[in-house]
Amino acid sequence: MIEQVLNEMITYFKNDTRRINHALKVYGFATTLSGLEKLSEAEKEITQYAAILHDIGIKEAERKYNSSAGCYQEIEGPPIAESILKNLGIDQPTIERICFLIGNHHSYNKIDGLDFQILVEADFLVNIFEDNLEQKSIDDIGRKCFKTKTGIGMLHSIYS
Ligand SMILES: [Fe+2]
Repeated sequence: MIEQVLNEMITYFKNDTRRINHALKVYGFATTLSGLEKLSEAEKEITQYAAILHDIGIKEAERKYNSSAGCYQEIEGPPIAESILKNLGIDQPTIERICFLIGNHHSYNKIDGLDFQILVEADFLVNIFEDNLEQKSIDDIGRKCFKTKTGIGMLHSIYS
């Protein structure tokens, strides 16, 4: 099923290789963190699907509001993710949790579970490189947004 969701994301983003690569990288970190932080199979699956689809609202955000700002992605992402996951036969409670994660993935004050925490850490582990952040910002992010032992270890190993 993971392969189908990956395929849907890749197809949806068409020639936007930057976004495809971003999603694949976040999925890679999210999978690694989920395994090492010992999530249940169900939680791991939710985290992986959310990682693959977390920025899926970006195209609609750009089309409707001329902006890729997080708040617009959070509005536009969940309905697109829901339709993809429904078509693949994913059950409704799983879809709802994935859509909650996608719809709040820039709202760090709303983190309410390890699946959400890992999605946020995985996105940062990729964005720090893609956005070429300076050390001070990386240290701030580490202090404020990283909670898992594995995520903190990776942040330090890669970026300090
Ligand atoms: Fe992202």
